[in-house]
Amino acid sequence: MSDPKRLAGEKAIDYVEDGMVVGVGTGSTVAYFIEALGRIKDRIAGAVSSSEQSTARLKALGIEVLDANAAGPLKLYVDGADECDPHKRLIKGGGGALTREKIIAEASETFVCIIDPAKQVPVLGKFPLPVEVIPMARSLVARRILALTGGQPVWRDGVVTDNGNWILDVHNLSITDPVAMETELNQIPGVVSVGLFARRPADIVIVGGEPPKVL
Ligand code: A5P
Repeated sequence: MSDPKRLAGEKAIDYVEDGMVVGVGTGSTVAYFIEALGRIKDRIAGAVSSSEQSTARLKALGIEVLDANAAGPLKLYVDGADECDPHKRLIKGGGGALTREKIIAEASETFVCIIDPAKQVPVLGKFPLPVEVIPMARSLVARRILALTGGQPVWRDGVVTDNGNWILDVHNLSITDPVAMETELNQIPGVVSVGLFARRPADIVIVGGEPPKVL
């Protein structure tokens, strides 16, 4: 059987319409989507990319990468996730691209999330929750997160995001109210963004398989 990530990535092409500027996420599942997008590149107007990694992949295939400010509102965003609950709320940021991913998700009318079946969970939090922080606030944010959630923040040492910031991965959470946690953690000074996509969840989830499942 083919890789479920490939099956999910290729299925997402169904949502691409002629002339579109497509919002493109980051990660190994999205890499298959980009590969498939390359095959229909003459039908689209270009892409807005969520990371330097995806930008390089898009450009290598000859797909024009547009500035998010110039592109304006997007009809479609396709991205992967690290966890997905039954309400299509997500944990993202395993690849460190959460902030730009969140900006594009917010700018998009339809967010299609592409995952392999292992990403489906009843409750978010087994995958450590990434939080992007301004470097000077790392220690403050870690203390606040521990006090507010009881989870253990671990600095992703050596990783600098595309925005020049650092990442804390918060372990041992069971996120029963993801909207409340996202809202609360967003308020801590020094937090750039939280890898919970609950206030703006996915609209459609494609789970890779033969055939892919569309939720
Ligand atoms: C990138 O920061 C993440 O949000 C990705 O969307 C996620 O890690 C994707 O995982 P896969 O590499 O398994 O597709």
